[in-house]
Amino acid sequence: MNKTLVIIKPDGVERGLVGKIVSRFEDRGLKIRIGKFGTISKETAQKHYDEHKDKPFFNELVNFITRSASFVFVVEGPEDTWSIVRKMMGTTNPKDADCGTIRGDFATEMTENIVHGSDSAESATREISLFFPDFVL
Ligand code: RTP
Ligand code: MG
Repeated sequence: MNKTLVIIKPDGVERGLVGKIVSRFEDRGLKIRIGKFGTISKETAQKHYDEHKDKPFFNELVNFITRSASFVFVVEGPEDTWSIVRKMMGTTNPKDADCGTIRGDFATEMTENIVHGSDSAESATREISLFFPDFVL
């Protein structure tokens, strides 16, 4: 089996969408393996989004993801589960996201796009280790 990291970001938790979003993954046949609620620290957010550290939107992104509680969890499924999850999320900018995707159904703004999913097998391994260091892959 294959695992990836998903975060329901502060906007998704604030809007009470956790159950609906988790259900989509379960309805698809994917398994929720471990999860936690909590406000992500600035330090963890900076590590998580390290690839964007030189981008102009980096500070805004870190402030957003740390503003209130997120639900961070590991999703398990077949090979390249990260890619199944990314398709279910929709494009980064919700304005372009297809209906039927999480961002396409629940969001309209790039800065409040509800959900994060690892963007490769390597990212999934790195991100699961960052948030769940004791979780055996
Ligand atoms: P995420 O990492 O949060 O799952 O989102 P993603 O892969 O779809 O998009 P990514 O390129 O990794 O960007 C991370 C987050 O940064 C914000 N962003 N703002 N202003 C901009 O041009 C811009 N580009 C990206 C988005 O909120 C995106 O989710
Ligand atoms: Mg990304």
